[in-house]
Amino acid sequence: MKKIMNVAIDGPAGAGKSTIARRAAKELGYIYVDTGAMYRGMAYHILKKGIDLKDEAAVSAEAEKLSVSISYEKGEQAVLVNGENVTPFIRTPEVSAAASTVSAYSKVRAALLNLQKDLAKKQSVLMDGRDIGTVVLPQADVKIFLTASAEIRGKRRYDELIAKGQTADLDQIIEDVKKRDEQDMNRTIAPLRQAEDAILVDSSHMSIEEVTDRIVSLVKMKEV
Ligand code: DC
Repeated sequence: MKKIMNVAIDGPAGAGKSTIARRAAKELGYIYVDTGAMYRGMAYHILKKGIDLKDEAAVSAEAEKLSVSISYEKGEQAVLVNGENVTPFIRTPEVSAAASTVSAYSKVRAALLNLQKDLAKKQSVLMDGRDIGTVVLPQADVKIFLTASAEIRGKRRYDELIAKGQTADLDQIIEDVKKRDEQDMNRTIAPLRQAEDAILVDSSHMSIEEVTDRIVSLVKMKEV
């Protein structure tokens, strides 16, 4: 039987983690697990309930009651909160900011940790997030820290919005990216940081294909 492989990809918002992780997982035949989507699902539910995001006790109490799970539809991950598929609603700027806030709370993180660990025990996964190499899968076979400058990450997000026919303010987007980095890197619990044994990949001047190829070849070297 083939060995179960665990690949951790961490890095800041907008570094291209999800696009690249999805493609690399497909090439490798692994399951792609997007942990950011789980925090987003949780945040969406908290917003919908009208709970004050700054009220850690109230957010934590709700998080402990919630059941978050994932399923796969045509190979794409869907996030279910109390059985409801919330995937279509979790990519708004409001949910991004709320996910960054609630993910700093220990009980919110604890509510998702076992789900993430269990997924990786059962099958080969390529999991992306902020603390995968440091907290969720410290024994991962391959750890990648994928980053790019805040300006380039902001410009990529801006281009995506323009391509969708939306209006966008580049300076504001770069500011938002920096603010989210700041929050994700400076929280007390499971902050975004490069694991000691992670390989740094700076995608600032690389194409999606180049980064994907690099990750796939790093993983293949470890497959037996
Ligand atoms: O990767 P993303 O932008 O979808 O993540 C949304 C938020 O969730 C992000 O601001 C930080 C948080 N997050 C986290 O704290 N830990 C993870 N493993 C993944 C995401």
